[in-house]
Amino acid sequence: MQKILDYIEAQKENHLSQLIDFLKFPSISSDSKYNADMEKCSNWLVEHLKNIGINNVKTYPTAGHPIVYGEWLGAGKDAKTLLIYGHYDVQPVDPLSLWNSAPFEPTILNNRIYARGTADDKGQLFCHVKAIEAHLKTYGKLPVNVKLLFEGEEEAGSNHLEDFIIKNKEMLSCDFSMISDTEWFAEGLPTICYGLRGIAYIEVKVTGPNRDVHSGSFGGAIDNPIQVLAWMITQLKDRYGRITVPNFYDDVVPATNDERENFKKLPYNEAAYKEDLGVGELNGETGYSTLERTWVRPSLDLNGIVGGYTGEGAKTIIPSWASAKISMRLVPNQKPSQILKNIAAYLRKLAPPTVKVEVQELHSGSPLVVERDSIGIKSAVAALKAAFGKDVVFMREGGSIPIVVLFGEELHAPAILMGFGLPADNIHSPNESLHLDNFFGGIRASAIFYDEISKQ
Ligand code: BES
Ligand code: ZN
Repeated sequence: MQKILDYIEAQKENHLSQLIDFLKFPSISSDSKYNADMEKCSNWLVEHLKNIGINNVKTYPTAGHPIVYGEWLGAGKDAKTLLIYGHYDVQPVDPLSLWNSAPFEPTILNNRIYARGTADDKGQLFCHVKAIEAHLKTYGKLPVNVKLLFEGEEEAGSNHLEDFIIKNKEMLSCDFSMISDTEWFAEGLPTICYGLRGIAYIEVKVTGPNRDVHSGSFGGAIDNPIQVLAWMITQLKDRYGRITVPNFYDDVVPATNDERENFKKLPYNEAAYKEDLGVGELNGETGYSTLERTWVRPSLDLNGIVGGYTGEGAKTIIPSWASAKISMRLVPNQKPSQILKNIAAYLRKLAPPTVKVEVQELHSGSPLVVERDSIGIKSAVAALKAAFGKDVVFMREGGSIPIVVLFGEELHAPAILMGFGLPADNIHSPNESLHLDNFFGGIRASAIFYDEISKQ
């Protein structure tokens, strides 16, 4: 192992400059303006994987963005097989004016690399690519078989990956899935994530008059779609912060006492949390702590709302329609499909007969909790500890990685969430960055992990 770690140390400059090349692609999956960039980015990744010695690498076109897949199976039939999953797509960058450097011109400052996708997830998936390279370049082999699956639609809901997995079960068969797309509880505190929330995402559109009309001529005589929508939205939670969609909590599994005790041991600092966000007070479901509210309780949020006149100055209209995007974060054992049905029915029931309501499902993904004492997790703990020289903690996560549940269901492969991000990385926000210690440490941890799991 030491020789491999020496290689990683010696290659630092190279690895960083390759990451910079990878980050320069504006691979924004949710905006079709960037389709050509998605394609270029996937091709770059394919070439890169070929160059480090991965076999059968190619892009698999989908109705959305291409999937990149390649494998190295030289460890043989008796060795373990890892499916390493990541995503090369990134979030949109707006508001651009809040970035201190251009999002696709990677910039190094104070031991961090700034660019969209550094932490989420190009930098993290690249840790595995470089760790595999280190094994292959040092000894010409790996102690495990690896299958690399990098998608381009995670940030848009992984809408085409499910189909790909179901159709390619044999090719993707594995003993474990490894995902580095999560973050540590705090800087200097290597963390294994053992739970993700699921998601159910809808868009609801309320339509009133068949065109925008004069608010003087018609004001007082007809319902205003913006006001109706706003009222409907406020009905979705009660004053205790509980979601009012019928049967919403039916399948929620409470956190165990052991989990709750474990949460209390984490160095959560409410004052710092508030200060970071610039809010005077927090607010959430009555009776739960912040970590419980974000990790083990479901939530419902408006992501955006549009309607009417929003240009300069005043325009006196009653708009024809208003529309809102609403996401719900789900916890075991809530079923996204059932939740989607229930909220659509509830919104239709709330709406007065003066308007028409359309509910569109955008995407969904199931929640996940994994066993904490599997050999996969034990190997990840050992790898993080060896790579960073610190004890490892466990946490759950409020975010979602929709496809991970499917690895369990379809491939019967338990998931290992060994992430290298930090809370200060600003994922999905302006000035996203990745701590360089975590990038280089992430390469070491990945390389050590392959060794550890092969010995189990
Ligand atoms: N890397 C994140 C998941 C995550 C979020 C991990 C927060 C740790 C902390 C992932 O790329 C992500 O953002 N997922 C989306 C999925 C959605 C679009 C279906 C999310 O959670 O919003
Ligand atoms: Zn993300």
